[in-house]
Amino acid sequence: MTNFVYLNGEYIPADEAKVSVLDRGFMFGDGVYEVIPVYSGHAFAIEGHMDRLQRSLDAVEIKNPLDIQVWQEIINHLIEINTGNQDAMIYLQLTRGVMEKRDHVFSRDMQPTILIMCQPMEYPSQDKNTKGIKVITRDDNRWADCFIKSINLLPNVLLKQFAVDHDAVESILIRDGLAIEGSASNLFIVKDDIIRTPPISRHMLGGITREVILKICSNEKIVAREIVVTEDELHDADEVWITSSTKEIVPVTTLNQHKVGQGVPGPKWQQLIELYQQYKQSVMRS
Ligand SMILES: Cc1ncc(COP(=O)(O)O)c(C=O)c1O
Repeated sequence: MTNFVYLNGEYIPADEAKVSVLDRGFMFGDGVYEVIPVYSGHAFAIEGHMDRLQRSLDAVEIKNPLDIQVWQEIINHLIEINTGNQDAMIYLQLTRGVMEKRDHVFSRDMQPTILIMCQPMEYPSQDKNTKGIKVITRDDNRWADCFIKSINLLPNVLLKQFAVDHDAVESILIRDGLAIEGSASNLFIVKDDIIRTPPISRHMLGGITREVILKICSNEKIVAREIVVTEDELHDADEVWITSSTKEIVPVTTLNQHKVGQGVPGPKWQQLIELYQQYKQSVMRS
């Protein structure tokens, strides 16, 4: 079946979608993006994703060319013509647009390039949830403004590749002795029954999955603290999880070749993954 993308106002087959070589996204990685999970045809936590898109756009001085309702209409239509009621993933990218000649300096009245794609969701294998995953720690060598969901992902790409090349799934990034997040995920730990996640800062991406988990904890009166996690505390944790829109909540059972806790997914993860699935169902019904 043909996969359709939305490109600058048109719905076209993915293999016919073309962008200029002078697009600043292609030349400079000058743009931002969002990844939105879609459950049974409904875009999940869309308001959180749209707020974060606006924060990213403001930070890089690109004017949002569309109203939130228009974004939602386009996303809903793209879901309808591609995956219907299935679970899917929306990838939305906005670059500063096409320049006349290659130049670092940009004009503020450029027309952004908008690309939105919708593809079937690829869930992590069941194994990842029953056995957990391996992660390794790495120095965070990214720039200082990681709160921007920039398409310029070269450090993240290399950090993730390093993990995979070393028999792990994710790199947990350490900056000034603190565990910040993964190369494509946020970080949670559990110590003595208390859930902890590093607080929002310019050095990490405020994950929407992270926000949903904190909301669930607050609704259910489960203690969850937004507080820094030192590298030592990470190694000493009873449970470690990574979270993202496409992975949801994944238990980490090996950290730098050592077992996390008992070396199996822990009870708090079990509780939260069940609550997360219930929350998804309840939001989809409302
Ligand atoms: C660096 C980074 N941190 C955190 C996340 C998790 O964000 P979200 O839960 O919104 O998917 C991602 C997702 O891709 C990411 O790339």
